[in-house]
Amino acid sequence: VDINVKSKGGNKTSIIPYGLMHEDINNAGDGGIYAELIRNRAFQGSNLYPVSLSGWSPVNGAGLSIKHLTVPLSKALTASMNVAVDSMGSKAVGFSNDGFWGMDVQRQRYTGSFYVRGSYKGAFTASLQSAITDESYGSVTVESNAKKNEWVRHKFTLVPKKDAPSSNNTFAITFDPAGVSGGSLDFNLISLFPPTYKGRENGLRVDLAEAFAALDPKFLRFPGGNALEGPDLANPWRWNETIGPLKDRPGRPGVWNYQTSDGLGLVEYLHWCDDMNLEPITVLAIHSGLALDGAYIKESDLGPWVEDALNEIEFVRGATSTPYGNLRASLGYPKPWNLKYVEVGNEDWLAGRPAGFDSYLTYRFEAFTTAIKKKYPDIQVIASPSVFDGMTIPAPAAGDYHPYRQPDNFFNEFHLLDHLSKDNLTLVGEFASVHPNGGIDWAGNLHPFPWWIGGVGEAIFMISTERNGDRILGTTYAPMLRNMNRWQWSACMIEFEADIKKTTLSTSYHVFKLISTHTITHTLPTTPTSNSSSLFFVAGMDEDSGGLVWKGANYNTTNHEATPVSVKFEGLRKDATAELTLLTSSAGPFGFNDPSKGNNVVVTTTKTLSAGKNGAFEFSMPELSVAVLDTDVS
Ligand code: AHR
Repeated sequence: VDINVKSKGGNKTSIIPYGLMHEDINNAGDGGIYAELIRNRAFQGSNLYPVSLSGWSPVNGAGLSIKHLTVPLSKALTASMNVAVDSMGSKAVGFSNDGFWGMDVQRQRYTGSFYVRGSYKGAFTASLQSAITDESYGSVTVESNAKKNEWVRHKFTLVPKKDAPSSNNTFAITFDPAGVSGGSLDFNLISLFPPTYKGRENGLRVDLAEAFAALDPKFLRFPGGNALEGPDLANPWRWNETIGPLKDRPGRPGVWNYQTSDGLGLVEYLHWCDDMNLEPITVLAIHSGLALDGAYIKESDLGPWVEDALNEIEFVRGATSTPYGNLRASLGYPKPWNLKYVEVGNEDWLAGRPAGFDSYLTYRFEAFTTAIKKKYPDIQVIASPSVFDGMTIPAPAAGDYHPYRQPDNFFNEFHLLDHLSKDNLTLVGEFASVHPNGGIDWAGNLHPFPWWIGGVGEAIFMISTERNGDRILGTTYAPMLRNMNRWQWSACMIEFEADIKKTTLSTSYHVFKLISTHTITHTLPTTPTSNSSSLFFVAGMDEDSGGLVWKGANYNTTNHEATPVSVKFEGLRKDATAELTLLTSSAGPFGFNDPSKGNNVVVTTTKTLSAGKNGAFEFSMPELSVAVLDTDVS
C-alpha cells in the first residue's frame, strides 16, 4: 500500500487523547494499586459483606473475635478485633495477617500503624515473616502507649534485613500477655505500606503505577464503572465518605462481590492525577438510571443528588471561602484542583427499566448538567451514554462510548467514529476486545486474557479514535487491573499478584503503549484515506516536537501474507530518518501473556529507516501486526 501523507490539512486532536480508567473491580484498588498490604485492616462490613476476621489468624493461641464496642474507634469504624490473652503465660501472643493473598517483602522501608485500646504495659513487636517457615525477615519494637479506655494510635517503620524469596509472607503484631490487664486488648485500623509511587502517604503501589505512567496517559476516569453506582440505592460511591483520616471512612459494599475500604478515596485519586500529570475525569454517583439492582431516583427526589454533585465539585475546585473548599482546606489541601471534566453517571443507557432508561435524558442528565454549567460554565460535562447507544446527547455535553467487542467488530466498524458530527464530542471511557470472533458476546464468557488478535483489533479502534481526534475527547481501556487471586473480569490490561515479580503486562498493554506514547496533536490527510484492504492507519504531527507520525494496524485474517507499506510524508527533508516500531506475535493470533508462565508473546522490532529515492519509507507489515513510524525531524 502506497500512502502519501499531506503536509497540511487535517484537524487538531484532543489534548487528552489517552488515559486511565480506574474502578475497584478485580481488587484493582484494595489489594491492587492502593498500596496497603493489610487485608481487612479495619473490619469494615455491610449487609452484603458482613464484618469478619478474614485475613487474620491468631499467633500462639490468642483468642480473636470481632467486637462492636460501645466506644468504637470512630463513627465510621464500629467493629474491631478483640485479642484475648487470659492465662497465656509469658510467650508473646498476638495476630497475623496474610495480606491480599500474600505480601511482598523486600529490603525497603515499610510504614505501619495500628490503634489499640486496653491496658498494656510493655512493648509490641511488629514483624514480617515467611508463612511457610516462620523465618523472620524483620521486626521492630513498638513501645506501648496503650490506655484502658482510649484508642491510641501506634506508629512504626520496619526495614526487613533481607528480601523474601516469595510473597508467601505474613505481617504480625505480638505482645507480652503478662503485661495486659483485663484479659484482652482491642485493635483496629492495622495498616502497613511499602514505599509508594512518588512517596505519597496512603499512596499507590509502585510497579503498577509505573506501568500506567509508562503509557503516557493524560487523564484518569474514576471511580467507575459500575463501582460508582453501588449495588443498590443505599450504597453508591459517596465522595464525602472517602475523604479525611482513614478512621473516618466507613468503606462500602462494592458491586464486584467484595467490601471496599475507600482508602483510595477522592483526594487519593486527585493525588494520582497530580503525580502522573493527568486531568481528573470525575464520574458523579447519581443513580441516574442504572442502579445495579435496577432502582433509580425519581425526578422529584433528584434535588439532593444534584446538590451533592455540586458539593463534590466545590470540594475539588472551590475557593477556600466556600463551604466545601473550606472543608478541603481543613483536611490539609488549601490549593484547589483544576477539575475540568465531569461525567454524570455510568452507562445509563443500560438501565433495566424502560422508565429509568427514558428518564436519563428527559430529566436526569439535564438536571445535573444545568446545575453544573450554571455554576461552572467551563466544565466539560459528559453524559454516560453516547450517540452509539441510540441516544441524542445535547451539545455541548459529550457522550461516553464503551465498546467491548470482538476483534472483527473493530475491523468492521472502523468508520463508525467518522460519522460523529462536530456536536458529538465523545469520550471512550472504556473499550477492549473481550469476546472471541464468532462468539456469542455477553452470553458467552469473557476471553480469559487479552490475546494478540484482540490487541490488533484494539489498535484499529485506537487508530479510528485518532483519526477523529477533534471529536473524540479521549480513549481508555477497561478494566485495567486484575488481581489473579480474586477477579470478576478476565480480559484486563495488567494482571498482578502480591508478588511484584508476577506483574504481567498483557498483549493489549503493549499495543496501547505503542500507540499512546507516540503523540499526534494534529492529524494530516492521507491518500488513500485508510483501510486499504486489511491495513488501517492514521497520520499526523506532534506540533510540540515537529515529528511526523504514522500509525498502522494490519488485520489480515485471510492469508499469511505480509503487506508491503510505503509512507511518504510530503515536505519532509530528504535526509530525514524515521523510527519504525513493529509489534507482532510469536504465538499467532491466539497468543497471550500468561501470568502463570511469565511469558511475553509480543515481539517488538525497532528499526531506523531512511527514505528511499522516491522519498518514502518502505517496510512490511506481517498479517497481524501494529506499527508506528515516527520521523526524526528535530
Ligand atoms: O469495565 C468493567 C465494567 O464494564 C464497568 O464497570 C462498566 O462500566 C462496564 O459495563
